[in-house]
Amino acid sequence: MLVTFNFNVPPTLVFGVDTVNQTGQYVKKLGGKRAFIVTDPGVAKAGILEKVIDILKSDGIEVGYYDQVIPEPPENIVDEIVDKVKEGGYEVIIGLGGGSSMDTAKMVAVLVTNGGRVRDYIGIGKVPKPGLPKIMIPTTSGTGSEVTQIAIFALLEEEVKKGVVSPYLLAEVAIVDPALTYNLPPNITASTGMDALVHAIEAYLSRRANKFTDGLALMAMELIAKNIRTAVTDGMNTEARYNMSLGSLIAGIAFGNSSTGAVHALAYPLGGQFRIPHGVANTLMLPYVMEYNLVSRMERFVKIAEALGEKVDGLPVREAAFKAIDAMVNIAKDIGVPMRLRDVNIPKEAIPKMAAAAINETRLLSQNPRVLTLKDIEDIYNKAW
Ligand SMILES: [Fe+2]
Repeated sequence: MLVTFNFNVPPTLVFGVDTVNQTGQYVKKLGGKRAFIVTDPGVAKAGILEKVIDILKSDGIEVGYYDQVIPEPPENIVDEIVDKVKEGGYEVIIGLGGGSSMDTAKMVAVLVTNGGRVRDYIGIGKVPKPGLPKIMIPTTSGTGSEVTQIAIFALLEEEVKKGVVSPYLLAEVAIVDPALTYNLPPNITASTGMDALVHAIEAYLSRRANKFTDGLALMAMELIAKNIRTAVTDGMNTEARYNMSLGSLIAGIAFGNSSTGAVHALAYPLGGQFRIPHGVANTLMLPYVMEYNLVSRMERFVKIAEALGEKVDGLPVREAAFKAIDAMVNIAKDIGVPMRLRDVNIPKEAIPKMAAAAINETRLLSQNPRVLTLKDIEDIYNKAW
């Protein structure tokens, strides 16, 4: 296929243990003396917020913060933070945390200069002008939000999760410090790690995949598959944490420049209607969506199986391709992520409403390697139940 593509990453990527100590220098490089941190209660409780505030203050930077971001952030939280940033005259926005905190920070930066609310910019390319400069610092190894142009929000009345996609959501600086993940509990390590793995797999199967994203996606699959079990069972293993942070970052660049697909599209209603954590929702959908997609990208499934550490030599292509699904199911089982909708208390009667929401995720479904009808989506949910 003669694919046309462009490739975008933050102009500055900083990776490595203790790189968070450089945050103040980058605030200054972005021309700021006043920085505002957007984070969540877990990051604050773990002492990471305080650590970053100290780092910034020692560099002479004045700091404000909001530490009450919740998963599936609703619009009103973004509005509240925008008001605080405007009142305090802050010049640089720092997103510190998982996907919810970073997505909120990215959107705040854009709304401070553009005005309006999240819902005004849902979709692709609707933000007219740049926001405040922003630095993203992930504290999990999963979301990839530090390197993408996407931010996801919950619209509460509609019970849906929707995405804003804009080049102005891309961070100016991403600082990925594996040491910030050392104290993540096993269940969060597991679910966020599965999200990163799904990013790599969907990026590789996307209709927008290209040679750049292919290479990155396979590298990320290998790094994550080799290290996720150790990171979950032995959180202080610095090498596993390092490789998980690197894998998640690389997977983020891969899907940020191709796309995710039906796994994410079918997972969103689980988050929007039942508040299932994003990584868990993806894991619940993954084997069944992979099974559906397999016939459309058989050769690619063989490459995925290999990247996940499966032996495929000498096997017929179809059998080798199915090894990719086996590998994912084994990882999810080993690290204790639920694999059935019934296990997370989603009633079977909810399937038609979830399917009706999922079919509207055209931004993602259009990039899935195989077309899905409403009936296909209902069948997948039924299998997953
Ligand atoms: Fe994701």
